[in-house]
Amino acid sequence: MEVLNKAAAKCILWVFFSCLHVIALRSQLFSRLHRSPDRDDVLISYKTFYFDQKIDHFGFIEDGTFRQRYLIADKHWKQPGGPILFYTGNEGDITWFCNNTGFMWETAEKLDAMLVFAEHRYYGDSLPFGQESYNDSKHLNYLTSEQALADFAVLIQNLKTTLPGAQHSPVIAVGGSYGGMLSAWLRMKYPHIVVGALASSAPIWQFTGLVPCGDFYKVVTQDFARSGHNCDSNIRKSWKAIKNVSSTVSGLQWLSEEFSLCSPLKNKNNIFSFKRWLQETWVNLAMVDYPYEANFLQPLPPWPIQVVCKYLALDSTVSDYQLLHGVSKAVKVYYNYTGSSSCLNTSQTATGSLGFLGWYYQACTEMVMPMCTDGVHDMFEFEEWNFQAFSDECNSIFGVRPRSEWVGTVYGGKDIASHSNIIFSNGGLDPWSAGGVSYNITDSLVSIMIPEGAHHLDLRYSNDHDPPSVKAARSLEVIYFQEWIRQSKKKCQLHRPSSP
Ligand SMILES: *[C@@H]1O[C@H](CO)[C@@H](O)[C@H](O)[C@H]1NC(C)=O
Ligand SMILES: *[C@@H]1O[C@H](CO)[C@@H](O)[C@H](O)[C@H]1NC(C)=O
Ligand SMILES: *[C@@H]1O[C@H](CO)[C@@H](O)[C@H](O)[C@H]1NC(C)=O
Ligand SMILES: *[C@@H]1O[C@H](CO)[C@@H](O)[C@H](O)[C@H]1NC(C)=O
Ligand SMILES: *[C@@H]1O[C@H](CO)[C@@H](O)[C@H](O)[C@H]1NC(C)=O
Ligand SMILES: *[C@@H]1O[C@H](CO)[C@@H](O)[C@H](O)[C@H]1NC(C)=O
Repeated sequence: MEVLNKAAAKCILWVFFSCLHVIALRSQLFSRLHRSPDRDDVLISYKTFYFDQKIDHFGFIEDGTFRQRYLIADKHWKQPGGPILFYTGNEGDITWFCNNTGFMWETAEKLDAMLVFAEHRYYGDSLPFGQESYNDSKHLNYLTSEQALADFAVLIQNLKTTLPGAQHSPVIAVGGSYGGMLSAWLRMKYPHIVVGALASSAPIWQFTGLVPCGDFYKVVTQDFARSGHNCDSNIRKSWKAIKNVSSTVSGLQWLSEEFSLCSPLKNKNNIFSFKRWLQETWVNLAMVDYPYEANFLQPLPPWPIQVVCKYLALDSTVSDYQLLHGVSKAVKVYYNYTGSSSCLNTSQTATGSLGFLGWYYQACTEMVMPMCTDGVHDMFEFEEWNFQAFSDECNSIFGVRPRSEWVGTVYGGKDIASHSNIIFSNGGLDPWSAGGVSYNITDSLVSIMIPEGAHHLDLRYSNDHDPPSVKAARSLEVIYFQEWIRQSKKKCQLHRPSSP
């Protein structure tokens, strides 16, 4: 667990053909109708299906299949030929992404579109080897982005051939975070299957050699710096204060009680994990610094960083104890906003349905995202990126070593100008924007910046407190969708035999 904690802060915290050979098993299991968790006035209604996917799309020895879960909402779909918005599921339970992607629900109405939410293999209910999927590296071997993209492509082709009226439906990929990376990559790798993609807060450049490793934590720091007096500088000071206070037995006990920790701090390892947990808490707050009350990673007030910073607006003369008292008040905004937590668990930073272990494995294989801090341009302790140490850690946990160059080979790094029809949207408050596409590459590979936006704010339900920049971003996104749909209809017509 120590190693897991350590790596948590290092990698990623979020806080992701042919019809003939696949026999569709589209059994409708149940239909769901419930209120959106964010919007009392919105009813979400979808049907759940399972589709038999090949465990291995790229080799022929492993011939087994597994059941991939996907959800369909077709209330607004106009057939034949109405568009399909396809969510490329990321590292978690697909119903959770379905709940948190209100933009698609609102856009379905505008475009007469069908919604499909497809679960990523190895997460939620879509486990290639059932309960044994995570047992060892042999079982985990098929957890790759390439296999996941192939799942999406096969599923889309199947839907188009089996759903009456969907044969000529243009499909647009939509995703946020790792799911946004997948939607962009789906368009790049399978342009005949999706007509375009919206990649929201997708850090497709957070890889070796593409962006400086310190940029991510710089954005986190800026968020705190702009949200309250001395906020970032007091967090920067807090690490030393922890060191000072924890140097005595009584100080250590005080710290455990002050932070209401479930398990008291006892040794150096515990203190190390405690600091990691604090660091991850600040990062998560930066990701979910939304302008209204929301519950993505935790239930939180509007602009949570401003609330947190009220407790950190201390001047430079305060004692280490006073400073850490402020820090404890501040983290409790994140962990105890609803007043229902009895103690704080330093092994947990989110209540959302993320598959942490699966993502850790992905980070240990393909998704190597270098991160570092210097304590000067950011508010964290100095720590350089050490690939060898990371690789050793991966090897000791999973028995595999990362291949940090591969992702550039397979997805092109910064040389992606030959692709088309992809929107990369980024929030200025979101630390992941550091690894995102922040400029227009071509006329059809566009970047939309949302300065007041945190992690994929544009994918959430519209809200009265939305800043104008996110409203403008969503409108522009829909205009691009309409343009891609128009292009595809035109192509379809060209391909039809002309009438006599
Ligand atoms: C999605 O929202 C519904 C209704 O609020 C809730 O019952 C369900 O647990 C949510 N799913 C996840 C994975 O959070
Ligand atoms: C796989 O892991 C599960 C859960 O950890 C365990 O119950 C099961 O016995 C393991 N199976 C094998 C074949 O090792
Ligand atoms: C920690 O202890 C050192 C040495 O006593 C002291 O100079 C410093 O002010 C203390 N606190 C912080 C936050 O550095
Ligand atoms: C959370 O808030 C409630 C209500 O204010 C309080 O009773 C409880 O002690 C708090 N829990 C922690 C861990 O601080
Ligand atoms: C803390 O979280 C870990 C990981 O989720 C869990 O295994 C453990 O039981 C939790 N501890 C307490 C005291 O809740
Ligand atoms: C990219 O082009 C679009 C459309 O012209 C524009 O709205 C947007 O602001 C541009 N993005 C950037 C980052 O300049």
